[in-house]
Amino acid sequence: MAISLVIGSQWGDEGKGKIIDYLSENADYTVRFNGGNNAGHTIINSYGKFAMHLIPSGIFNKRSKSVIANGVILDLEVLVQEIKMLKDAKISLGGSLLISPRCHVIMPYHKLLDGLYEKAKGKAKTGTTGRGIGPCYADKVSYNGIRLTDFLDRKNLSTKLETQLLVKNKILTALGANPLSQKEIEENLYLLFKKIKPYIAETYSILDSAIESKKNVVFEGAQGVLLDNDWGTYPFVTASTVISGGVGAGAGISPARIERIIGVSKAYSTRVGEGPFPTEQLNDIGEKLRSVGLEFGATTGRPRRCGWLDLELLRFASKLNGFSEIALTKIDVLDNFSEIKVCTHYELGGKKIRYEQCDAAMLAKVKPVYKTLKGWEKPTTGLKSFKDLPTETKEYIAEIEKFVETKIKYISNGPAREEMILNNA
Ligand code: GDP
Ligand code: IMO
Ligand code: MG
Repeated sequence: MAISLVIGSQWGDEGKGKIIDYLSENADYTVRFNGGNNAGHTIINSYGKFAMHLIPSGIFNKRSKSVIANGVILDLEVLVQEIKMLKDAKISLGGSLLISPRCHVIMPYHKLLDGLYEKAKGKAKTGTTGRGIGPCYADKVSYNGIRLTDFLDRKNLSTKLETQLLVKNKILTALGANPLSQKEIEENLYLLFKKIKPYIAETYSILDSAIESKKNVVFEGAQGVLLDNDWGTYPFVTASTVISGGVGAGAGISPARIERIIGVSKAYSTRVGEGPFPTEQLNDIGEKLRSVGLEFGATTGRPRRCGWLDLELLRFASKLNGFSEIALTKIDVLDNFSEIKVCTHYELGGKKIRYEQCDAAMLAKVKPVYKTLKGWEKPTTGLKSFKDLPTETKEYIAEIEKFVETKIKYISNGPAREEMILNNA
């Protein structure tokens, strides 16, 4: 198993949590390295059903340690709630949860600014999760962030917070919000910090020696390639680097040490929030995908936009990230379609155009060109081996592999951990 990296290949919510939970059964470490609690990774295993926002999805494996590395931004309130939720479910955390002191903290003004910026943009809003993600990462890269390590010295925290509030309160009031009180923020956050302090550890050396001693490490990407700040459909993206290269900065490991890069893709496409979505189906097909696939956000509960699988995008995602294999999820959602379409390429003004040539406005105008495949119209739910899959399902899988030039190694046919078929064809 060695050093594996799991990356979402679409607009997030591909089923990464399910795949991580499955893979981490044999992992020594599971590591989050990007994003914050904009992520919602659903896990269904013998402990129950959980939506994980910050703590790695490998926490359910007794043997594995869970690391929140430096690239993750933390809402301390959400983290404390998540720790409580796991303790209530009798998941032991002592010694198995490790949090980098380099993590930046999402402050109350980040959450307020997220909403105020969205409001100011009006119709051009991004459709964020409202968790303060963009403003927190903006402060990080402009040297205005407050990190966990700053909480270790209360005086230092006070000074930094005072400077930030000097600026932030001016912006908040200019945008019509009330100014924030330093005393209140500091006292609340400090109480939360004390609860997570026992889990803080320098994670670089822990991961470095784990890799040196050939432990199994699974890196758990959040979001998906098309939400990447550089390579996604900007400005309808998230604030962090979500592609495979992001693991170097986000966890402090050399990308050269990653042995497997697993791209997770749904067997169709979904998106939450605004932005172009060439294969979106604003019709009965989209409705059917949403109702059969239970496509509602794990973080915000928003209905997800639904459409056919876009092979132009998956091809790009695989090349950009260097996928060694793909995990195809939610194949069971397509069980009752007589025809299934895949988008093979785009056209604009009568000419073939590639995703990477388009900005968001162009992508909103491209014409997706489809290939229609025969549906299998039989249940795949409950099947355990590749050979038992209907012929049309195998043909669908082969079609994707051919276009994307990447092997589909895992086929997920249900939300629970054990609903997984290995493609040994
Ligand atoms: P993530 O953010 O990539 O971890 O994905 P989410 O958890 O946000 O959304 C994926 C949804 O699909 C969750 O409700 C999962 O329980 C569910 N899911 C994952 N794999 C499968 C599958 O193979 N079949 C079905 N029917 N549901 C799945
Ligand atoms: P997981 O890890 C789906 C989307 C938001 C919005 C855009 C920016 O569960 O796959 P942000 O709050 O990050 O500033 O919002 O990114 N988004 C996600 N969509 N799954 C996610 O995470 C997402 N994280 C952010 O809907 O369009
Ligand atoms: Mg999700």
